Amino acid sequence: MGQPDSKRRNAWAPQSRRSFLRRAGFAGSAAFSLVGLSACSDDGKSRTRRTPGSSADVFAHGVASGDPLADRVMLWSRVTPAAEGDVSVNWTLSESPDMSDVLRSGTVVTGAARDYTIKVDATGLAAGQTYYYRFEALGETSPIGRTRTLPAAGVDRLRIAVLSCSNYPFGFFNVYARVAARADLDLVLHLGDYIYEYPGRGVSAEENPDEYGDGRPLGRAPEPPYEIVTLEDYRTRHACYKTDPDLQEVHRQHPMIAVWDDHESTNNSWRDGAQNHDPDRGEGAWSEREAVSIQAYYEWLPIREVAADNPERIYRGFDLGDLVSLSMLDTRLIGRDEQLAPNVEQGFTDTGAYADAGRTLIDVAQRDWLSERLNNGNATWHLLGQQVMFGQLKILGAPNASNTDNSGGQGGVFLNPDQWDGYPRAREAIWDIIRGGQAAPNVAIDNVVVLTGDIHTSWAMDITEDPNNPGTYDPDTGMGSMGVEFVTTSVTSPGSDADPAAIMSQNPHMKYVELASRGYLLLDITPARIQAEWWYVDDIESRNDTERFAAAWQVRAGENHVIAADAASTPKGEAPLPAPAASRAVGDR
Ligand SMILES: [Fe+2]
Repeated sequence: MGQPDSKRRNAWAPQSRRSFLRRAGFAGSAAFSLVGLSACSDDGKSRTRRTPGSSADVFAHGVASGDPLADRVMLWSRVTPAAEGDVSVNWTLSESPDMSDVLRSGTVVTGAARDYTIKVDATGLAAGQTYYYRFEALGETSPIGRTRTLPAAGVDRLRIAVLSCSNYPFGFFNVYARVAARADLDLVLHLGDYIYEYPGRGVSAEENPDEYGDGRPLGRAPEPPYEIVTLEDYRTRHACYKTDPDLQEVHRQHPMIAVWDDHESTNNSWRDGAQNHDPDRGEGAWSEREAVSIQAYYEWLPIREVAADNPERIYRGFDLGDLVSLSMLDTRLIGRDEQLAPNVEQGFTDTGAYADAGRTLIDVAQRDWLSERLNNGNATWHLLGQQVMFGQLKILGAPNASNTDNSGGQGGVFLNPDQWDGYPRAREAIWDIIRGGQAAPNVAIDNVVVLTGDIHTSWAMDITEDPNNPGTYDPDTGMGSMGVEFVTTSVTSPGSDADPAAIMSQNPHMKYVELASRGYLLLDITPARIQAEWWYVDDIESRNDTERFAAAWQVRAGENHVIAADAASTPKGEAPLPAPAASRAVGDR
């Protein structure tokens, strides 16, 4: 590839950057709020049925499990009582799908202070074991859920589905249904944008941007219909999503490890604010909005609180025997500096404020925690579950040392200041860890696999410090690659109509770029290799059960770069029995 001419405009960037950003969900949008409208869908009837007295269906929001460890797992549900007041809830856990032998049981009390949600940390369990569970309250029994503890040792294979970006009004959650139907999964990861904060269309005199979606033709107008800001708003939005039968089913069949991205609070959030938060529009202080969004998230997701005195602390680790060390990062709320504006036409270069050495994406404590996990674990694979693309995404490729804009700029022109590209020194600190420079014994760390969501599109790439420099990285052999990144597409959020070939022409470390499809990433993990597979659904405008295998890429242990694979992996020979179909209607659609 020739050296880019600083005066030459990239062939695809000027036409596509704005639409790519907008459709892929990380562009700016006008913030507004219409707090105070009643929480009803377009037929005038509440579908979330979350308030006491509004429903006889006690377990209208399903069951869920999450944050499994080798000896415990979080069990979740939510009751909708007929009258206000505390509710006593019994839970039982069994090794049998018919719940015939109760292994563990207990009683918890829930109430308005926690929005009638229930969370139980079921302990004393065996490693790598499938369990079934259910709840009873107010004379009703919940659907039976299935969950699984993490393995402790001797693991020779794991299968994990990776999800992100499930925007309710954009379409049906067929992707969740397909993941739910895979009985042999050990775990499901959700990398964020589990809910979106936007208003429904047609509720404001202001014109809603495309990213809000219009759920009305599909009967999927979100509740509340306005942009969510208060605790009650966030709770109602979570409740709305949890009425979806496909979301309920993926939770009912698999344990989930989830982490928030920006839309669980609001678009392009950072440590002290967000692009889509404006105190001058009646949205109050950011600290208050952030706090209530976190409170609702912890209430409505089957997640174990990491630090009781610090709700912002969501980054946490999981050990899957000696095969996988999974580190879930938070690049949003706890340590991110504000996103910078472009500093050149159509993009930005690593100059000026971007080059500030103090600029952070994760805070020092999280970085040290990650370094500790990468250096001291004994697992073959280090998975980093996180939000925004780690590898470079350039609209004008150039080696780091080149000067592309005659102002000391380095490394070409980047597209998206919200991803790691916008925090170059913070990324260098991660390179330093991987090289072994941050902790004894100063040995380079092999087998780092970054898992990413956020961008509503599918990518597989080598991660390397200088992808456009043939002296330090060879895209044909993978020489110079320090690990790999696999990016899952969205459940429903819209992708991009940009040209993948144009992107790959500027970014030689990228091996797979697909921008049009909705789906999920399936990881098939053995000690010898990780295969990443992209599975897509045909459409999201009707509920259907079709899916197609699109692509597979691998990384072999010790090789730290992406190679092509030509076929989908085979399901496990013996999968645990699914949780039995509910004897009563799940959801209300
Ligand atoms: Fe998203």
